[in-house]
Amino acid sequence: MLHLRKKTGKAITAEVQTVTPTMGEGIIQIRDLYKSYETAAGLFPVLKGINVGIQPGEFVGIIGKSGSGKSTLINMIAGIDHPTAGHVFVAETSVHNMNESEMSKWRGRNMGIVFQFFQLLPMLTVLENVMLPMDFCNVYAPRERKAKALEMLDMVEMVDHANKLPSAVSGGQQQRAAIARSLANNPPVIVADEPTGNLDSQTAEAVFGLFEMLVNQGKTILMVTHDNSLARRVTRTILLADGELVNEWLLRALPTLSHQQMLKATKGSEPLSFAAGAQIVKENEVNDRFFIITEGFVDIALNKPRGEKVTVNRMGPGEYFGEVELMNGGHAIATITAGELPVKVIAIKRSLFEELLNENRDTKRVVETMVSRRVSENQSARSK
Ligand SMILES: Nc1ncnc2c1ncn2[C@@H]1O[C@H](COP(=O)(O)OP(=O)(O)OP(=O)(O)O)[C@@H](O)[C@H]1O
Ligand SMILES: [Mg+2]
Repeated sequence: MLHLRKKTGKAITAEVQTVTPTMGEGIIQIRDLYKSYETAAGLFPVLKGINVGIQPGEFVGIIGKSGSGKSTLINMIAGIDHPTAGHVFVAETSVHNMNESEMSKWRGRNMGIVFQFFQLLPMLTVLENVMLPMDFCNVYAPRERKAKALEMLDMVEMVDHANKLPSAVSGGQQQRAAIARSLANNPPVIVADEPTGNLDSQTAEAVFGLFEMLVNQGKTILMVTHDNSLARRVTRTILLADGELVNEWLLRALPTLSHQQMLKATKGSEPLSFAAGAQIVKENEVNDRFFIITEGFVDIALNKPRGEKVTVNRMGPGEYFGEVELMNGGHAIATITAGELPVKVIAIKRSLFEELLNENRDTKRVVETMVSRRVSENQSARSK
């Protein structure tokens, strides 16, 4: 359990609660985060109650349609913009309880930021751009800074361009320099808003490879991306839909649903917990819900005609069950029990499940294929 450093700064806006709860585990914790912008037409809500925790060493992709709130969320985490309500903790610090000067010092030491358009200062050389956050944060002694900056540039293969101005190098090279700059004070966390959005695919691949290397070295990285092939390669994906987070396991289980449908399913689902060994679905009894496993494992077992019980499968987070019954008449064809550890699931009622499949043919086809596969596996297991 990490403990929060005591901060005396006042809350930034009237709506931000002044009582700061203690932080849970994780290097980034976001609690009940809301952000609304004031517009001519009135308050425009952009983030509508975000809760998420990120563990050290995770490589998290943030995806979602244009306007869903990805940049707004990144800016809240980096302390670039302030929430209307809620809390962000990064590396044991409550980000929005600091004043501006504490905040910039803190950010320089704890968070590397990489933008889509690099944002190097045009009149400074590549090397000077990398040294700038070092001068600001005083992590390294002045005489060490140049060598450190060259070390960073070497890591991103930019040392040969150290004395050039940003305008004299390519976009991919500028982004690599920007990554070196983000690493200047060796921060534990890096946030990147579409870092490959302005690069061709080969250069994007090289930049993504750099992030993978940094994650392997122990950094925690959050990266907003529109690139689906890159989004599939991170260790965890979070999806924003209209300013809200979709359940991550639902995204894994039913990726062909539209973002709006995933959000509807997330909101319409009920989280349930089962003790180790508890029975969740019983063979031959009515099952009226669709279950997605979010934690732990379940065992699928059949009762054979002579009374023996055979375990045919084990499933874990992101896998689902209950669909066979919902699509084939309602009675369970197997018994499903929690494994040796407690199990958590989200459950979706029949009516919502049917509504989603009726709205989305692709998902219906995927689930039907799963049903026929499981029914035939079940039959062959019984006949053995
Ligand atoms: N300063 C602002 N004032 C008013 N509205 C804003 C402001 N900044 C963002 N918005 C609105 O908030 C919503 C979310 O914006 P945000 O930039 O976070 O989306 P995004 O998911 O990053 O989109 P994109 O993929 O296009 O970058 C949008 O509707 C945007 O118009
Ligand atoms: Mg954006």
